[in-house]
Amino acid sequence: MISIRDVKKKYKTGRKSFFALKGVSLEIGEGEFVAITGKSGSGKSTLLNMIGTLDTVTSGSIFVDGENIASLSGKRIAEYRNKKVGFVFQSFYLEPSYTVYDNVELPLVLSGRTGRKNKKLVSDALEAVGLLSKIKERAHDLSGGEQQRVAIARAVVNDPAYILADEPCGNLDTANSNNIMRILAQLHDRGKTVIMVTHDPEDAMKAERVVTMSDGMIVSDTKSA
Ligand SMILES: Nc1ncnc2c1ncn2[C@@H]1O[C@H](COP(=O)(O)OP(=O)(O)OP(=O)(O)O)[C@@H](O)[C@H]1O
Ligand SMILES: [Mg+2]
Repeated sequence: MISIRDVKKKYKTGRKSFFALKGVSLEIGEGEFVAITGKSGSGKSTLLNMIGTLDTVTSGSIFVDGENIASLSGKRIAEYRNKKVGFVFQSFYLEPSYTVYDNVELPLVLSGRTGRKNKKLVSDALEAVGLLSKIKERAHDLSGGEQQRVAIARAVVNDPAYILADEPCGNLDTANSNNIMRILAQLHDRGKTVIMVTHDPEDAMKAERVVTMSDGMIVSDTKSA
């Protein structure tokens, strides 16, 4: 369960300061599939980055499973990012020269898990995105759609409760986007909480709930039937 309370984010550029989030409050229950949508610059990525602790809040709190992640210290933040959340970004961020296996295994290695068990975890994660056959390939030899599926396998390999995806289909054609959306829906069906930022209304409609942002605020929050 994620409970965001009156979160503000101020950015300074030169002498000017600017509020990218102007007091956002939002509750996301376990197992929900939420789309965050809104115009460019409305604060979607800023909000997602706060939930993922990739950036810090200026004020307010974000409770994840009862813990205020806005006040975690260095080591606990690393642990939170590694174990509780899985990230998927628009531009994949794979290590291009690594094999698919090594890319997906990375979160396990970072959390101190090495050894034979990883093989099964990595294989299962790749199987779930239909890419087991590419396990030995280099990441840069894959298509964009395949790279994003590897990124999803990497996001889930540590079995995090929360999947945070920022425009996961932003660099993909329609067929690949549909495939990614289907995989996110499957993760939701398997009990993951999925929070996806998108500016595509069609993709947003595939979530159970659509939160719309404008100018650093939430302006609507609707559940689909
Ligand atoms: N590091 C930063 N420094 C200064 N301003 C920033 C920074 N990051 C974001 N902003 C500003 O905050 C606002 C919200 O940015 P954000 O990236 O959250 O928008 P977004 O809704 O994700 O947009 P897009 O759909 O284009 O990705 C924008 O006006 C942006 O310029
Ligand atoms: Mg963005």
